[in-house]
Amino acid sequence: MKIAKGVNRLGTEAVYNIFAKTKNLIKQGKEIIDLSLGQSDFKSPKHAVDAAIKALKEGHHGYTLPNGTIECREAVSRKIKSLYKADIDPERIVIMPGGKPTMHYAISFFGESGAEIIYPDPGFPIYESMINFTGAKAVSYNMTENKDFSINPDKILSLINEKTRLLILNNPHNPTGGFTEKNVIDKLANGLKKFPNLAILSDEVYDRLIFDNKEIPTLLNYPDLFDRLIVLNGWSKTYAMTGWRLGWGVWPKKLIEHVFKFCVNSHSCVNTPAQYGAIAALDGPEDHLNDMMREFTIRRKLIVDGLKSLNGVTCSLPGGSFFAFPNVKGTGMNGEIFTEKCLKEAGVAMIPGTAFGKYATDNVRFNFAVSRENISKAIEKIHKILK
Ligand SMILES: Cc1ncc(COP(=O)(O)O)c(C=O)c1O
Repeated sequence: MKIAKGVNRLGTEAVYNIFAKTKNLIKQGKEIIDLSLGQSDFKSPKHAVDAAIKALKEGHHGYTLPNGTIECREAVSRKIKSLYKADIDPERIVIMPGGKPTMHYAISFFGESGAEIIYPDPGFPIYESMINFTGAKAVSYNMTENKDFSINPDKILSLINEKTRLLILNNPHNPTGGFTEKNVIDKLANGLKKFPNLAILSDEVYDRLIFDNKEIPTLLNYPDLFDRLIVLNGWSKTYAMTGWRLGWGVWPKKLIEHVFKFCVNSHSCVNTPAQYGAIAALDGPEDHLNDMMREFTIRRKLIVDGLKSLNGVTCSLPGGSFFAFPNVKGTGMNGEIFTEKCLKEAGVAMIPGTAFGKYATDNVRFNFAVSRENISKAIEKIHKILK
């Protein structure tokens, strides 16, 4: 049996290995506080759940259009208009089974041998995995160079050459919690005008999880880029709907026919009742999101203060998402050894920075979308083993 070369180049998300390890330890009777997975402990909004149940009960059991129901695409378009004042034709919107497929498709569209794709390191591991799969050269920009893990436009622009086909951005940023403000994105967008053949994939899946009432710096505010801009977003993080597998992409008009064919060739359409829940989530009240952000603001302070109180650990304040990305070098351990020790000796699960690329060897990622009690307990337990 001979499998295609690209398959061996696929990477993975280490989070799933740690997830399996953690589950195993729990099965053996160990008490583990899990701060590894990238999801909120909030349940999905009730009005979304009710709408999906109603759709099932009313018999919405069949296929929909591969790019999503027109009602769901219109709801996304409405939301984009109300949030960002941007006019996006629903025909440019594609509903996907999660945020990830937009990434998978976008990288597949531009990656091949001889091409280069620029991506953040540390960054969501699927960017590099998919670039390698396509045979393109993965060219990274280092997000740890800036203390606050923000995007450096000059650095990014300096990496673009005639082979560069796609630039991947992620703001707010996983795994660092870094947030780049609108004035910096303005500078980057302005610089990108010099490279009209370069496509941009802006992963904005954490765009509603921004702290301190800062403006959302969406790339959808730059119509000059629309003919080469793909925006990835979805319901997973904003509405605590990770398991529903719902996402949306905004695509350049000229790519829509190709995206449509990709959908037809892979998943046919997104789960139909889930699309009803998706519309309800977008159109419904935002109390759920506001409650979640109020709680995350308290948890952010709790975890950052807690981490900073540990001997040898430094931590910057995340500007968005629900991740803290402390540096543990001062403990005498690198991120991987620290992670291993914390899991084995303290029963606290996290992810080493190296799961997100080659640069963040001294960092670890904590998910703080867990209860305050668990955050405090985790810090206490780590404190004990670091003494
Ligand atoms: C930066 C980033 N992009 C995309 C995704 C994918 O989201 P989804 O679960 O909707 O596929 C994630 C999930 O963790 C993420 O962190």
